[in-house]
Amino acid sequence: MIDVNIIKKDFPIFNNSEFVYLDSGATSQKPKVVLDRVISYYENDNANPFRGAYNLSIKSTEDYNNARDRVAKFINAKHNEEIIFTKNATESLNLIANTYGIDNLNSGDEVVLSIMEHHSNIVPWQRVCKLKNAKLNYFYINENFEIDEKEIETKITEKTKIVGIVSVSNVLGTINNIDKIIEKTHSVGAIVIVDISQSIAHQKFDVQKTNADFVVFSGHKMLGPFGIGVLYAKKEILENMSPFLMGGDMIEFVYEQETTFASLPNKFEAGTQNVGGAVGLSTAIDYLENIGYEEIQKHEKELITYAYEKLSNLPYIKIYASKNLENVSSVLSFNIDGIHPHDIASFLDASNICIRAGNHCAQPLMRYIGIDSTCRISFAIYNTKDDIDKLIFAIEKIYAKFEKFINKNK
Ligand SMILES: Cc1ncc(COP(=O)(O)O)c(C=O)c1O
Repeated sequence: MIDVNIIKKDFPIFNNSEFVYLDSGATSQKPKVVLDRVISYYENDNANPFRGAYNLSIKSTEDYNNARDRVAKFINAKHNEEIIFTKNATESLNLIANTYGIDNLNSGDEVVLSIMEHHSNIVPWQRVCKLKNAKLNYFYINENFEIDEKEIETKITEKTKIVGIVSVSNVLGTINNIDKIIEKTHSVGAIVIVDISQSIAHQKFDVQKTNADFVVFSGHKMLGPFGIGVLYAKKEILENMSPFLMGGDMIEFVYEQETTFASLPNKFEAGTQNVGGAVGLSTAIDYLENIGYEEIQKHEKELITYAYEKLSNLPYIKIYASKNLENVSSVLSFNIDGIHPHDIASFLDASNICIRAGNHCAQPLMRYIGIDSTCRISFAIYNTKDDIDKLIFAIEKIYAKFEKFINKNK
C-alpha cells in the first residue's frame, strides 16, 4: 500500500511550499531523484553526444543510448531503435502527420480521430488532409462521454488509412477502448496512432501486446523533465518513412544537391540531442516502476472515486465524466453553476489550490458537448484525499460568497 506522505517527501516542491496541486494532467511535479539525475548529467557527463571522439562525449552518448534502452524496455518495444526522442507529444504527432501522413495519404482516403483528441492530434491532420485531399472523420461520444463500439465499427471503413486515438481524454478522463479500435483499424489494413500522454503516468502501456503502430507521449507529464518526448513506431514503418526535421546527425552523406539519411533512430533526431532530458525521463520511469503501476492505479482509483462522490454531492456542480468510474482515469472536469471556470481557478489560487480552467486544447470536444470551458482537476501519485477535502471546502466557500449574485442574475 502506498504511503503518500512518504512519497510526497520525494518531491522537493512540496517541501518548499504549502499548496494543493491538482494539475498533473498539464504537467506533473518532479521527484528529487529525477532532478538529481539531470543535474548529475550536467555536472559530470555533459558534452555533445555522438560527435566527439573524446571520453566525455562518449559518456554522454552512452547516457543517451541507455535512456533509449530504458524507454524501449518500459513500453516493451521489440527494438530500441523504435524509440525516437522528440521534444514532446506534440512534436511526435507532427512528425507522424508530416511524414507518414504526407507520404501515404491519397485523394479520397480517410483519417479518423476521436472528438476528444488534444489539438496536437487534430491540427496537424487538418493541414495534411487538406494538402492530400483526404477526409477527416471523428468518433463522437455518447451521453456518458464514451465512444460506443458501434461508432468504432461504422467510422472505420475500407477508406480509412489512419486512426488517431487518445488512450485517456485530458478533459473527460475517459479511458478509451484501445484494443477494439486497434483490432478494427487493422482489419481494414489501416494504422493506429495512440496518444498515451494522459495515461502513461497511471497505466502501463505495452506496444507489442496492444499491437499499436505509433505511440506518443511527453516526459513532463510522467514525473520527467520538460523538453523530452517519445515517438514509438514499428521498425518497418519507421524504415519506410521520410525524415521530418533535417540537419546535423540525421544524415549519412551530404552532397551539394542531395543527401542520404542515417539509419534508425538517428534519421528522426536532427540536431543536438536532449541528453539531460532523456536521462531524466529514464529516472522518472525507474521511479514509477519502483512504486509499481498496480499500486499507483489502486491509489488513484480511490482518489477519483472520492473526488467524484464529493463533487457530486454539491448540487450546483455538473461533472463531465462517465458514470462508470471504471472507465475514468485520473482527470475530472466540472462546472459550477453561474461562475466561470477561469474565476473559479483564480479564487482557488487564493487558497493555494492549483487547478486548470479553460478548453484544455480540446475545442472541438467542448463545442460538441456545448460548452466553452471547464474546471479540471487531475491527479498524480502524490495527491491525497486531504487535497480533495481542501478543494471541496474552498469551492463551498466560493459558492457561498457568490450564491446571492448568481441567483439574482438568473
Ligand atoms: C492527451 C494529450 N495529448 C497531447 C498533449 C500535448 O502534450 P505536450 O504539450 O507535452 O506536447 C497533451 C497535453 O496536455 C495531452 O493531454
